[in-house]
Amino acid sequence: MSEYRNFRPRFHFTAKYGWLNDPNGLIFHNGIWHLYFQHNPADTVWGPMHWGHAVSRDLMHWGEQPIALRPEGDLYIFSGSMVFDAENTSGLAKTSEDGKLIPPLAAFFTSHLVTRHLESQSLALSYDEGQTFTFYPDNPVIETPFRDGVLLSDFRDPKVFWDEERKHWVMSVAAKDRAAFYSSDDLLHWTQTGEFAHGFREITNVWACTDLIPFDTEEGRKWVLLASMENQEGHPEPRTMYFTGSFDGKCFRPEEKRTEPLWLDFGWDNYAGVSFNDTGERRLMICWGMNPRYANQVPTADSGFRGCMTFPREMALRKTPAGWRLVLTPVGCRELFAPGLRETAEAGRRIPVSETSLLKISGSKGCIRLFNEDGEAFTAELDPDTVTIDRSRAGLADFHPDFGTEAFSKRSTKRAVPSGSPAEITLIYDVSSIEVYADGGLEIATVSVFPKKPYTFAECDGDLKLEVTRIVQE
Ligand code: FRU
Repeated sequence: MSEYRNFRPRFHFTAKYGWLNDPNGLIFHNGIWHLYFQHNPADTVWGPMHWGHAVSRDLMHWGEQPIALRPEGDLYIFSGSMVFDAENTSGLAKTSEDGKLIPPLAAFFTSHLVTRHLESQSLALSYDEGQTFTFYPDNPVIETPFRDGVLLSDFRDPKVFWDEERKHWVMSVAAKDRAAFYSSDDLLHWTQTGEFAHGFREITNVWACTDLIPFDTEEGRKWVLLASMENQEGHPEPRTMYFTGSFDGKCFRPEEKRTEPLWLDFGWDNYAGVSFNDTGERRLMICWGMNPRYANQVPTADSGFRGCMTFPREMALRKTPAGWRLVLTPVGCRELFAPGLRETAEAGRRIPVSETSLLKISGSKGCIRLFNEDGEAFTAELDPDTVTIDRSRAGLADFHPDFGTEAFSKRSTKRAVPSGSPAEITLIYDVSSIEVYADGGLEIATVSVFPKKPYTFAECDGDLKLEVTRIVQE
């Protein structure tokens, strides 16, 4: 008999069995979306890292595939990215029996030597649409560099993309407390071209999962640099930073003078997000919907898994009074919830929700509450200047000493719109994952909750109006 009920989300991707963390190798290729992921298939805790694999035709329904990359002894396969070498720049294309060139899908990942905590960047190639891979025989393609006379630890998560303007490959990689940039003509030989550190003395820890993403705006091309950062003692807050600025093919330069980075998500459960390659004009990302602090302890192991992805998110860069900001919107939720039952209510009247419900809230001030008959509740509060999330009474919390503390229970963010602007909030409730998108996606929060019983009602107050679409499990 399991101790806990089934906490597996219905629409958020989870591994069928085992542990999952970062999304890896995100690419759109021949009409298929590929999601590889950090995976320990043998257990529901972090361990020898593999790349799991899932595919989708619509970014909503995912089919898990055989494991793509397996560790070799002490060498774990850490996070990374995927490119399609369409022009055979690497010279590694194969020739089919009828004489056609088959260019490879090239997976870049970090080889993590677990016994010495040393990392280098490696390559694996696939000639069968990303199903199976062989390691490049001359790995690593980037050796562990030296810094201050010693081998650099925490050098990882290569994100490779084709720089259309400069006509070469670019890699951004986390190098301890900064991002390093490399370029290459052939995917095999890499030269370091620059480094970016933000310089905020108070905000330091190991960086992970950097990503450099171009956006075409009315002010020309702008680049966003994303980087996740491990929790710092005393700082439970979300740790995916981003910076807006320029990239000259060699190095990123921020354009805004700030005293701290911009933060992607103000919830507790968003980490290691990176964008898809080969999506044309669209910019799409997936993040790990968990907090590394307590990911190994969340009470989902009885259901056979730990770790889930966020919804895929469409990214755009929008000019606000405070500067250029990312807006993220969940992809496909309208279609996913189309078969659901829809009901609307003014403030003060409650509406039933099911464990997979989409909530649309509009107004300028008030609280929205999801709750069950035992008084477990998740709330989000809208003020003229802030959005606040509160999971202090949301459900199970004692599986980790930090989860139930105040810092992990209640957080606010400043709205990036003029004070008192009417808001639209989209809230997705999917069993143990809640995603909140406020002000059109300018403020977002990803939150894990483990209510002992499913929330059964939603209700709001103030001047808020509520629309609930609920999907009833067959
Ligand atoms: C981020 C991270 C990455 C690393 C991977 C290991 O969550 O620590 O930096 O590649 O997870 O699983």
